[in-house]
Amino acid sequence: MRHILVPEDLSAHEIEAVFAISKDLETKFESGRRDALLPGRMLALVFEKPSLRTRVSFEAAMGHLGGSSVFLGEDAGFSSSRESVADFGRVLSEYVDAIVCRSKAHETIVSLAAASTVPVINGLSDYCHPCQALADIYTFKEHVGRVAGHTLAFVGDGNNMARSLAVVCGLLGMRFVLAAPRAYQFDDAFRRHLQSVVPNAEIVETTDPGEAVTGAAVVYTDVWASMGQEKERATRLQAFAPYQVNEALMSRCPEALFMHCLPARRGEEVTDGVIDGPQSVVVEEAANRMHVQKGLIAWLLAK
Ligand code: CP
Ligand code: NVA
Repeated sequence: MRHILVPEDLSAHEIEAVFAISKDLETKFESGRRDALLPGRMLALVFEKPSLRTRVSFEAAMGHLGGSSVFLGEDAGFSSSRESVADFGRVLSEYVDAIVCRSKAHETIVSLAAASTVPVINGLSDYCHPCQALADIYTFKEHVGRVAGHTLAFVGDGNNMARSLAVVCGLLGMRFVLAAPRAYQFDDAFRRHLQSVVPNAEIVETTDPGEAVTGAAVVYTDVWASMGQEKERATRLQAFAPYQVNEALMSRCPEALFMHCLPARRGEEVTDGVIDGPQSVVVEEAANRMHVQKGLIAWLLAK
């Protein structure tokens, strides 16, 4: 039984295996076919934060695969005084075949997984967002065929998305560049962690967004204040102002794709002209969440 709590819970080889299933299911989906690979299987979604893409893409994925899902929001009492996370996980595991959890603190997902007897998938924590990073690199692969050797430039906060993309890029042989103010770059503990999980990866940090995007095949950004950081919003808006992905920045890499996990704060980290422009693939990324998660669940539950 496997949990997917961080991107490095999958090897490069396993990511490729998941992508192959995803591609097959996506191709069939586009021609109107829904392969019922998981009849009678049940997925629980336990969410402590809002979601559009993660929730609906997992629920639709299960429906298309012939299974079903149950969404558990705040009223289920997860991670509250109602009962322990461990009791919650032990009991929920008796009803469902897999659990997707979106938690405020990453440790909560780790505790849930420790107690659960079915696979737990991280649907975003403050630390990382593995499913999104997988869908993003799958999207890039659909455009270029072979991702190794290309550069992804992440312009913005060294947050859950940046950490996840750094690892997935490292696993798949892509160069990762983070352009952020010093205070918002990776911390030393995460840098050491990268050294241990992707020792051969080329990961660069800079304060210069122009330098970061030059030669990049993908320019990626995300909100400057993530869910849970609302109180820091004013400070962050000021710190990140020079890091907006706008037309001037994208003109330095006219061949690059523009990516964003969404939801976006238009006019802050990205301009309308870029997110709605010819280089943007943000809707493809969102669509691919469903295809990649189908591949991931089918692969996990086949184990
Ligand atoms: N990108 C993403 O995870 O979106 P949601 O927060 O809407 O799920
Ligand atoms: N960094 C963002 C990602 C949302 C999908 C957040 O955690 O709010």
